[in-house]
Amino acid sequence: MKRFRLNPFANSFGLASIVVGSLLLTGCSQGGDTVAGGSAVSHPGKAVYDDYCYSCHNPGLNGAPRIGDVDEWRPRIAKGRGLLLASTVNGLAPAMPARGLCYSCTDEELSHAVDYLIELAQPKPAQPKPAQ
Ligand code: HEC
Repeated sequence: MKRFRLNPFANSFGLASIVVGSLLLTGCSQGGDTVAGGSAVSHPGKAVYDDYCYSCHNPGLNGAPRIGDVDEWRPRIAKGRGLLLASTVNGLAPAMPARGLCYSCTDEELSHAVDYLIELAQPKPAQPKPAQ
């Protein structure tokens, strides 16, 4: 306590760094939400996907099921979301690393990323057949 009294700026400095800190945090999360594509509503799993899963699941590296590939995902989705999340958290031999290499991600963030993959792999709604 005595140290605070000796430095009259201690309190206001502490407050300032909290304000600056939260501005930085806000800036970060906004950055994640406004990724290219311009869609106003971003999926909560997209930021994690773009940062960690993208490098394998976009090109289909080492047999990774490609994002948005309905046929590659169908048999995996059929196993159930719970198993897909378990493979994500624990990894799946030989080439899917535990936590998709995002060791700082919470299980919840990983589950959003799994939902994002599942959502983009849904069969497209039936298109009206062109008249023949
Ligand atoms: C280093 C490359 C790599 C990264 C990074 C990666 N994956 Fe994968 N993932 C794979 C491969 C390869 C497979 C296919 C594994 C198999 O079936 O042998 C796979 C499979 C999966 C599956 C299907 C699991 C199953 O049970 O069929 C899910 C879900 C998945 N990944 C989610 C993710 C998520 C979410 C992330 C990011 C947090 C991620 N992956 C990051 C390579 C990767």
